[in-house]
Amino acid sequence: MAPVVFAFLNQKGGVGKTTLALHVAHALARQRQRVLLVDADPQGSALDWADSRTLGAPFPVVGLPKASLHKELPQLGRDYHAIIIDGSPRVYDVARSAILASHVVLIPVQPSPYDVWASDHIVDLIDEARIYKPDLKAAFVINRRIMNTALGRDVKSALADYPIPVLKSAVSQRILFAESAANGQTVFEIAPKHPAAQEIQSLVKEIQGLIP
Ligand SMILES: Nc1ncnc2c1ncn2[C@@H]1O[C@H](COP(=O)(O)OP(=O)(O)OP(=O)(O)O)[C@@H](O)[C@H]1O
Ligand SMILES: [Mg+2]
Repeated sequence: MAPVVFAFLNQKGGVGKTTLALHVAHALARQRQRVLLVDADPQGSALDWADSRTLGAPFPVVGLPKASLHKELPQLGRDYHAIIIDGSPRVYDVARSAILASHVVLIPVQPSPYDVWASDHIVDLIDEARIYKPDLKAAFVINRRIMNTALGRDVKSALADYPIPVLKSAVSQRILFAESAANGQTVFEIAPKHPAAQEIQSLVKEIQGLIP
C-alpha cells in the first residue's frame, strides 16, 4: 500500500514545523509504523537533529529540499507506511511540491493573530493545489499555546477567516521540546509520560483521523 504523506508547512519561520514533524514521526514509529522523515528545508534542521544523536534515530531522516519532491517521493517512500515532510520557511517551489506529494498538510501556527496572518502564503498554495487535488486535507495546528489559557478572541477570529479548520489538539509551550531537541531526542525519549508527550499523542490521533 502507498504510504500516507503528512507535511508540516508554513512560510513563517520558527512556528514549530521541525519540532512537530519530528515528534509526530516518532509517535508513529512508536506505533510500529515504518516512518520516513523527509527534510525539505535547505537549512537541514531535521538532518542536524538526526546527526546529533548518539544512538541511531527511531526513523530514517533524508534531505530532499527540491521542487521535484513530489516526483521522487513515490519511489523513495515506497517501503514506508508514513512519510512526514518537514517544510522550509522559504523556498516556495519546494512547498508547492510538498503539497502535491501530501495527503494531509498541517500548518503550525503560534497563537498570535500575526502568526495566523503570516500563513497566507501557504493557505493560497493549498487553495491552488485543491484545484488538482480536491481530496487534499489541510488543518492549522496551534503550537506553543500558553498553558491554561483560552485562545484569544483575536486569534480565533483570525483563524476563522480561513477555509481551513483548526485541529482540536494544540501543543503547549514547553521547555521540554527545546531541551529534547538540543540532545537530538524527542520528548518520548526523555519523558514519555509527560503532558508534552500526551499532547503529541492526541495530535497524532487527530491527524490519523484526517486520512482519507
Ligand atoms: N511547543 C513548543 N514549546 C517550546 N518550544 C518550542 C515549541 N515548539 C517549538 N519550539 C522551539 O521553537 C524553536 C523553533 O521551532 P522549530 O525549529 O520547530 O520551528 P520551524 O517552523 O521548523 O522553524 P524554521 O522555519 O526555521 O524551520 C525551536 O527552538 C524549538 O525548540
Ligand atoms: Mg524547521
